[in-house]
Amino acid sequence: MERIISGKPREEDAALDNNLRPRRLADYIGQDKVKENIKIAIAAAQSRGEPLDHILIYGPPGLGKTTLAHIIAAEKSSSIRITSGPAVERPGDLAAIITSLQEGDVLFIDEIHRLSRVVEEVLYPAMEDFALDIVIGKGPGAKNLRLHLPRFTLIGATTRYAMLTPPLRDRFGSIYRLDFYDRPAMESIVARSAGILKVEAHQGGIREIACRARGTPRVANRLLKRVRDYAQVKAAGVITKEVSIEALTKLEVDRIGLDEVDHKVLRTIIEKFDGGPVGLETIAASISEEADTIMDVYEPYLLQLGFLERTPRGRMATRLAHEHLGMKYNKSRQTPQGQLL
Ligand code: ADE
Repeated sequence: MERIISGKPREEDAALDNNLRPRRLADYIGQDKVKENIKIAIAAAQSRGEPLDHILIYGPPGLGKTTLAHIIAAEKSSSIRITSGPAVERPGDLAAIITSLQEGDVLFIDEIHRLSRVVEEVLYPAMEDFALDIVIGKGPGAKNLRLHLPRFTLIGATTRYAMLTPPLRDRFGSIYRLDFYDRPAMESIVARSAGILKVEAHQGGIREIACRARGTPRVANRLLKRVRDYAQVKAAGVITKEVSIEALTKLEVDRIGLDEVDHKVLRTIIEKFDGGPVGLETIAASISEEADTIMDVYEPYLLQLGFLERTPRGRMATRLAHEHLGMKYNKSRQTPQGQLL
């Protein structure tokens, strides 16, 4: 089941995202280094009259990869064509898309790590030489034909940088990693969204939402919406600190944004596997979640908090994780490298 703290998109986000999503770089809060580099790249490409280099954006779900792709297109006044790795099943699907692009267009491929090898191979010459290689006919009489494509900019997004093949990675001119947003950025994002939604929110209420949104704008906006509902029904529509705390407690999102699944992951490692190390698949099977979901949605934030450690022999729960759950930490058994003493 998709949880409220998941950074993965859910259906209810669609309408919300459209209103709340920043449309220009100036409205995009946080990720300052990435924004600065994008600004420079766009300005430089435009002053040279060249297409913007292909861009890869990676990072956990919900941090704004798609939003940034839209913004890049808007900043350079280009049209954007959107697809995703799993949607492009055959080489012909990709050929159809890239031959319909216009000069300067942005092609956004979400989850680009899920493109199949054969599709990727169509992408290489398209990215490198703006060319599409076609084979006509079969056998000895077959002919190679090279079609020229308009110069476009590919923006790829992925939650799994490590799953991209090196030849694909190498073809991106710039690679940006989005990090979890810090507290001040999260507070600004929640305040901005509350303004757009026209809901009255006190600073304390905003802060509670910001603290529990796992450094992830998509989660923040989702929590804000739920707290707004709660405020409307229980508190004359005003999001005060108390209202935020009550609403978020009811949603089982704890003080630092962990939900029941995070707790289960940590408790499983600690109680069933003595704090680890234990393999991801084993953890997933123990709590009936998919390993991919744990890896994409839960693990990045737990790692960032320093609650989880990845070792060659599996995941370990750290002292901080034990303390957060009020459990005893048995330090003598473990080294930071995950070796048993
Ligand atoms: N909504 C989602 N991501 C955002 C961001 N980085 N800045 C402002 N609003 C956002």
